[in-house]
Amino acid sequence: MRILLITLGLLGLVACSNQPTEQTTSDYAVAMPDKFGAQVAIDVLEQGGNAVDAAIAAQFTLAVTYPEAGNIGGGGFMTIYIDGQPDFLDYREMAPEAASRDMYLDEDGNVHPTDSLFGAKASGIPGTVAGMWEAHQKYGKLPWARLVQPAVTLAKDGFHVPPKLAGRVSRYIKRLRDNERDSNFEHYFGAATEADVLFTQPELAATLARIRDQGPDGFYKGDTADAIVAYMQKTNGLMTHDDLANYHAKWRTPLAFDWRGYKVVTAPPPSSGGIAVAQWLGMVDTVLKTNIMPAHNSAPYLHMVSEAGKRVFADRAEYLGDPDFFDVPQSELMQPAYIESRAKDINLTAISPTEGIAPGLHESEDTTHFSIVDKWGNAVSNTTTINLSFGAGVVAEGAGFLLNDEMDDFSAKPGVPNFFGAIGGEANAIEPYKRMLSSMTPTIVLEDDSVKLVTGSPGGTTIISSVTLSIFNTLLYGMTAEEAVNSPRFHHQLWPKDTIRVHDGFNKATLTALEAMGYTIDDRRFGDLHLILNENGKLSAASEKNGRGKAIVRNTQ
Ligand code: GLY
Repeated sequence: MRILLITLGLLGLVACSNQPTEQTTSDYAVAMPDKFGAQVAIDVLEQGGNAVDAAIAAQFTLAVTYPEAGNIGGGGFMTIYIDGQPDFLDYREMAPEAASRDMYLDEDGNVHPTDSLFGAKASGIPGTVAGMWEAHQKYGKLPWARLVQPAVTLAKDGFHVPPKLAGRVSRYIKRLRDNERDSNFEHYFGAATEADVLFTQPELAATLARIRDQGPDGFYKGDTADAIVAYMQKTNGLMTHDDLANYHAKWRTPLAFDWRGYKVVTAPPPSSGGIAVAQWLGMVDTVLKTNIMPAHNSAPYLHMVSEAGKRVFADRAEYLGDPDFFDVPQSELMQPAYIESRAKDINLTAISPTEGIAPGLHESEDTTHFSIVDKWGNAVSNTTTINLSFGAGVVAEGAGFLLNDEMDDFSAKPGVPNFFGAIGGEANAIEPYKRMLSSMTPTIVLEDDSVKLVTGSPGGTTIISSVTLSIFNTLLYGMTAEEAVNSPRFHHQLWPKDTIRVHDGFNKATLTALEAMGYTIDDRRFGDLHLILNENGKLSAASEKNGRGKAIVRNTQ
């Protein structure tokens, strides 16, 4: 394998799936959640497209080949570094105009268990098509139609279903049947339950062809809009023609902060992720001023990082929401002195009482990610979602795409956790045209104005941990891209009380030591990191081996 990779490297081409990646002299790279997205994106880069072009083509491709999370029916965030300037595109879904604060409460004031998670009423107004159009208008080099066409072809002519996708579709259909859900999912995806069969999606192909030919009007107006609204009316959904026409993606100032000589460029609100990562890195640094760095993935390391995470998530619940609707105290939450003060009562030998961790300011699964670096050194870190796997579990009939269930990311009732166990209050209450708080954290780390690291992951609230730990793994512990994405990860988010969620692969003695301290270990895998790392001018890229991702690194020579 090593000899083959070195030989390919000399030919100027190194392809790395989720196998160990060799370091090569190379200058453009993609790390994608599947091989179709990887191929389409690298082709665009090879043909003179920039990182944003490749991101647009990949986003539409994943809407066809990665239906669990790739989408045109959802939204996302794109962190961009282009021509030496950072930028950030918010194409998060918005609540329909008819949405209201108590829309998911029953007559007793209790949150309905599935209304915000399943079916048309769970769906926010999709932002993806408007987002990709905005990105193309501002930064695109290749023609729009060239970027959308690969997705049209894959939907029309079909693709061979990867075994992992067949497994996920089969399990999802079983769950729908077991729970007697009224869904058209099996009608649309029943043929994708068998690995390696050719799977075509003619309705989706027609929708993508309208987007290719008409831009956003091919989605937010005309036949596609008519199909969405007709499906809403048939199934109790809220979205109207006006909602679709009123949707807009938004350019925002990216969150940027200094950390250990690097510049971290990441997601501002309505993501909670950027502020959370800044606080997390800052609190750990505060602790390390007076303590030595614990061994990687040892019990003291998990405890120290979890204690910081507790404080991060207390602030997230209280202060973070859509900044267009709620006055997010961003600069206060990012103040080094504030972050330092939050870390000062972290006890490295005992768990601090969960109930005692209040927000600090006044006395307070499924998503997917890809990373791209082009030959000019521009980068895109893009995380996109329809919320849970296969979103709301229903397809907009006549348009062929899965609707999102992003409304569950709002706080349906103060203090009541959403699917990811995240709680919230006023900041993230439902309001018409408001964007629901997100944990998506597409991040680019710069060193001397050059891209050092492009990182991101799916996983709801665990995204924040995956991104933070990928920064620690590469830039503190010196891991390669491959080691960093496959290193066991952990997550702590204040509630449930004293619970650390872990990936498999942890040393048993570490977990026993944490249990002895009083932690409950929740052993459930999370995330799917896709990361590009620049080591002295050489790019390495890696996708986590448990997913079906693919990373490709190429040279210009
Ligand atoms: N839907 C997951 C998130 O945006 O955080």
